[in-house]
Amino acid sequence: MKTKAVRLYGADDLRLEEFDLPPIKQDEILVKIITDSICMSTYKLLKQGKKHKRCPQDVDVNPIIIGHEFAGDIIEVGQKWKDEFKVGQKFTIQPAFNYKGSLASPGYSYRFCGGASQYAIIPQEAMETHCLIHYDGDAYFNASLAEPMSCIIGAYHAFYHTNKINYNHAMGVKPGGNVLILGGAGPMGLGSIEYPLTLEKEKRPKRIVVTDIDDARLQRAQLLISPQRAKEKDVELIYINSAKVENIDKKLLDISEAKGYDDVLVMTPIKEVCQLADRMLGFDGGLNFFAGPTDNQFRAEINLYNCHYTSAHIFGTTGGTTDDLKEALDLASRQKIHPAVMVSHIGGIDSIAQATAELTKVPGAKRLTYPQINLPLTAIADFEELGKKDKLFEQLYKACKEHNGLWNAQAEKILLSHFHVI
Ligand SMILES: NC(=O)c1ccc[n+]([C@@H]2O[C@H](COP(=O)([O-])OP(=O)(O)OC[C@H]3O[C@@H](n4cnc5c(N)ncnc54)[C@H](O)[C@@H]3O)[C@@H](O)[C@H]2O)c1
Repeated sequence: MKTKAVRLYGADDLRLEEFDLPPIKQDEILVKIITDSICMSTYKLLKQGKKHKRCPQDVDVNPIIIGHEFAGDIIEVGQKWKDEFKVGQKFTIQPAFNYKGSLASPGYSYRFCGGASQYAIIPQEAMETHCLIHYDGDAYFNASLAEPMSCIIGAYHAFYHTNKINYNHAMGVKPGGNVLILGGAGPMGLGSIEYPLTLEKEKRPKRIVVTDIDDARLQRAQLLISPQRAKEKDVELIYINSAKVENIDKKLLDISEAKGYDDVLVMTPIKEVCQLADRMLGFDGGLNFFAGPTDNQFRAEINLYNCHYTSAHIFGTTGGTTDDLKEALDLASRQKIHPAVMVSHIGGIDSIAQATAELTKVPGAKRLTYPQINLPLTAIADFEELGKKDKLFEQLYKACKEHNGLWNAQAEKILLSHFHVI
């Protein structure tokens, strides 16, 4: 079976190529990929090449297919899985297989399995670890975005607070506490502002403070997840451009009523941001260093006095579990979360290599791609203008306008039927 795919050959070397996938083995599954959203972590892989923990050392001769946030249709099932998976079913994938201690993951490690491809072969370990997941929703893009959402959900589940009586950890964000999200107006930040609002009332924090240094992103965030919407959930939501504040420590501490923060997420791998996060930890506060750095010697100064006397603790999470992904799918299907808030651009398979390489240069949030089609990377914000000359964009603009300017199932159907994918 021929496929077009974007393959990584090493640092800063991505190529869109057409090649043959081998026939599947009896323990593998062949899929057609409909959506693949681009993650900042793939940009980091591109910058690191072989130095990345998940990248094989022979990638220059056996390139891997990038993309790990994907969904689509099952088109052939190996004998071993015929009872569990059927041709025609929709799927999504939890790429952190953690198979027998291996870091191998689609989008980083596999020659024939990654999202930036028209077709892919799902390896047996995906099924064995229950990471290939049935999807029943109508929009493929929600299934793709369940992966980044699952990382966010995992990050929240991993927060803990200590119990001085028996050392047991109370898992999750502190009920009624203060949450701080540093670098929180990027796509992952948006997801992490939304998620705690979905918690049951008695489990919600009382306050979420979000910092960023990008005004345009902060404005978009406030529009999409407004302080008013949070207030309806009894959560005080505050956005701050930290670059414009003279004494950010004081400002953040004042907001916390001098208590500091119970749960802190660091969304950008910058030393000063990590140190600020550490300084903001309140008693028994937890810092989740969510943004993986590219430098494997990345260091920041932390206060070990507080670690000893005030139970401040630091950890990091990468990826989510299959249960986190199922939770993300469930929340999206019940419209409790709106993963589309993360998406700013759509594109086809021909846009992926450049869109990945320019992820930090082109303003915007998450890029959602449709590997079955060719389409330049296009901002949703440009649909209206493009629609004046192009019927497709006129229709897409109308569909998004009906959904608060967000990408949506109706727009996806318009796009896929225009290109005869469905
Ligand atoms: N742990 C995981 O499972 C997981 C999964 C996906 C992505 N990630 C990582 O999470 C991070 C966030 O993802 P993203 O896609 O939102 O990335 P992003 O780079 O788009 O967002 C980071 C934000 O930080 C802001 N920022 C930069 N410098 C700052 C500063 N000094 N102070 C405050 N804000 C600052 C930027 O303006 C940007 O809005 C990335 O590092 C990504 O690789 C982690």
